[in-house]
Amino acid sequence: MLDRYEITSVKARQVLDSRGNPTVECEIRTRGGGFGRAIVPSGKSTGKHEAVELRDGGLDWNGKGVSKAVKNVNDVIAPKIVGTDCRNQEALDYTLIALDGTPNKAKLGANAVLSVSLANAVAAASTKDTPLYYHLNALFGKPEMTLPVPFFNILNGGEHAGNKLAIQEFMIAPIGAKTFSEALKMGAEVYHELRNILIERYGRGAVNVGDEGGFAPPLKKTRDALDVIMEAIHRQGYESEIRLSIDVAASTFWTGKYYKIDGKRMKSERLLKFYTDLIEEYPIINIEDPFHEEDFDSFAMLTERVGKDVQITGDDLFVTNPRRIEQGIVKKSANAILLKLNQIGTLTEAFQAARLAYDNDWYVMVSHRSGDTEDPFIADLAVAISCGEIKAGAPARGERTAKYNRLLRIEEETEFSYAGKRWVLK
Ligand code: PGA
Ligand code: ZN
Repeated sequence: MLDRYEITSVKARQVLDSRGNPTVECEIRTRGGGFGRAIVPSGKSTGKHEAVELRDGGLDWNGKGVSKAVKNVNDVIAPKIVGTDCRNQEALDYTLIALDGTPNKAKLGANAVLSVSLANAVAAASTKDTPLYYHLNALFGKPEMTLPVPFFNILNGGEHAGNKLAIQEFMIAPIGAKTFSEALKMGAEVYHELRNILIERYGRGAVNVGDEGGFAPPLKKTRDALDVIMEAIHRQGYESEIRLSIDVAASTFWTGKYYKIDGKRMKSERLLKFYTDLIEEYPIINIEDPFHEEDFDSFAMLTERVGKDVQITGDDLFVTNPRRIEQGIVKKSANAILLKLNQIGTLTEAFQAARLAYDNDWYVMVSHRSGDTEDPFIADLAVAISCGEIKAGAPARGERTAKYNRLLRIEEETEFSYAGKRWVLK
């Protein structure tokens, strides 16, 4: 029976991501007629400890070409995996890890490695003629599947926008919706209401969008952003259904001595107080990266203080890396991880990160990158590991809606329930 599942070809090429930068796309074919394609995304506010994205340097593509990574797939990886069984994802990923041989995928490039790892999973599902989420769920081994709560990033700041807001992402989470499609409707309605309010107050220049499709108005302070979002939620009548979430991405405004936010310089104790005040004033259910990427201790203090009611999520802190998550578990630095496949470079290692989180009663939020593509893989992933939460940007722009629209299709073809109930409505 190997024949059907035998990988017959592996081919990578350079394509563009949503920022117009080159990225790696890989296609895998199997003897049974299966076909898998995957495109790797790319971050901007990247964590220092992320796996290495191999870029060509030089003058072409402003140094961002990925022809070396593409060549690594076609010349180094392909000959080793053609002829193997696509169903054995772990064996394939360990082959990739061994071929690279570095702790951070620096030799072949995490972009090269991940494109193959994901395309293989898609090819295996295709050969089995089963939906990708079923195949991923079987590999991951969780009994149930659910449709995740979408965390829509409707207002952008930090490195994703040209305004003065220090905080990178202001998200709305329709936890009180009954279904995923209702959540999507609520998110889109509030997004458009926010657009109307921003035009009324600041003119049309205020509704240009940031990298993840959220508006990037000329606001300066955190509370200004939260207030205008609350107003949009109020005008649409969703106060009881929608809660707020922020990705602070604090490393981006940490100077090495203090945090520069809202026109102030704050040490970590003051920033911690800033967060506890915000939590009192606004219905915030999740704070991602509240402190810089090495500050396990301040993370732990905030988690101790508010972690019963608020999800504290480590992104740049953990970089989807089981070793760093283990440190965080020992120090009680958070109660959730952000899961980004390209931070670690293989599906198997991302599964290990998620399992580690679950085994310690932590939550997992599946995430896109600010430079993303039309590839909807993470929608199936979030369903398959039943994590109940996904962030994929605004409910606008093709690379973001690719994920949300895929979830609509999964909702239509399955009986999976919407994961909103896991959040306590207060
Ligand atoms: P990035 O941003 O993709 O630019 O890293 C997303 C995030 O910080 O969560
Ligand atoms: Zn983040």
